[in-house]
Amino acid sequence: MISLSPSLQSRLSTPLKIGSFEVKSRVLQSPLSGVTDLVFRRLVRRYAPDSMMYTEMVNATGLHYVKELPQIMEVDPKERPISIQLFDCRPDFLAEAAQMAVDEGADTVDINMGCPVNKITKNGGGSALLREPETAEAIVRSVVKAVNVPVTVKTRIGWNDSEITILDFAKRMEDAGAQMITVHGRTRAQGYNGAAKWEWIRRVKEILSIPVIGNGDIFSVEAAVRCLEETGADGVMCSRGTLGYPFLVGEIDYFLKTGTIKTPPTPIERLECARDHLQALWEYKGDRGIRQARKHMTWYAKGFPWASELRGQLAVIDTREQGIKIIEEAIDRLTANPSVWEARVEVESLAVF
Ligand SMILES: Cc1cc2nc3c(=O)[nH]c(=O)nc-3n(C[C@H](O)[C@H](O)[C@H](O)COP(=O)(O)O)c2cc1C
Repeated sequence: MISLSPSLQSRLSTPLKIGSFEVKSRVLQSPLSGVTDLVFRRLVRRYAPDSMMYTEMVNATGLHYVKELPQIMEVDPKERPISIQLFDCRPDFLAEAAQMAVDEGADTVDINMGCPVNKITKNGGGSALLREPETAEAIVRSVVKAVNVPVTVKTRIGWNDSEITILDFAKRMEDAGAQMITVHGRTRAQGYNGAAKWEWIRRVKEILSIPVIGNGDIFSVEAAVRCLEETGADGVMCSRGTLGYPFLVGEIDYFLKTGTIKTPPTPIERLECARDHLQALWEYKGDRGIRQARKHMTWYAKGFPWASELRGQLAVIDTREQGIKIIEEAIDRLTANPSVWEARVEVESLAVF
């Protein structure tokens, strides 16, 4: 039984203030490359009307040379509050990209200083900036000067266990003008392995005045509440827990606002959501959308006895029709056999990475 302490309840009862921008939810949907496109964000938004969404990270150098908006930067005017996330190591290119982000409708601009992927760090972006704090400061200053919306930073606790630099780094970001910082409680060396060390989020919160958002291992309402209690963070950001489960942000937000647990979706409702996701990806991206849909579809198929058989079928779909047919047959089969899921089979871990 999860409960919300009165002190947490009162701490979270006001809007999240990111500079001059107010958000009516303390639960954020993280940027996820290859996942949080317009289609996915619309699904999350269905269940989390007030939460902040993030685009996938956008390469500022790419924008500088191409000068046209890539599809991953496209924002629906109805989907606010929305942040566009950028990555790069060049303050001037990032400033230019940030202006394009604001023109596209971004309520805030977020700079990625946490991505661990070699392709990004070898060019000086993502978590490589943890080792170049002066460059990171110059980036924040340059972007803050270029745009009239709040600039935020998302980062990790350090490069590796012997270089946990987040306290100094976070302070520098605040001093350079960042209006919020999201701390993923892992080092770059950890990738996505091992537990997130929330302890460091608490320590960052103790020394900053700007809002601090806790990130890492928020897979449930219970984890979100525990992270908020243990760290004193101003909000939590959900990431892998939303893969195949766009309900999570809304479920946590609902609990924080009402103190009651929202009934989770049944396997049938999850598959109906998968079908909507597939259809929308196809409408937005055509055949490319179907290839991208494969991973999403397999993430949805969980929590009933023959889910792994279904995942195998969905992993290789080639067309929208094929995918919809497989999902609808699965829905029919579940409808005909409610006993296999009504007992609320313990849902497997939602972590897929
Ligand atoms: C598939 C995938 C894509 C990601 N893409 C981004 C990204 O574009 N920008 C970013 O700041 N973080 C990205 N992340 C990191 C997450 O936002 C988050 O910080 C991390 O997964 C930790 O949270 P979790 O333990 O709840 O998953 C990505 C993570 C995954 C698994």
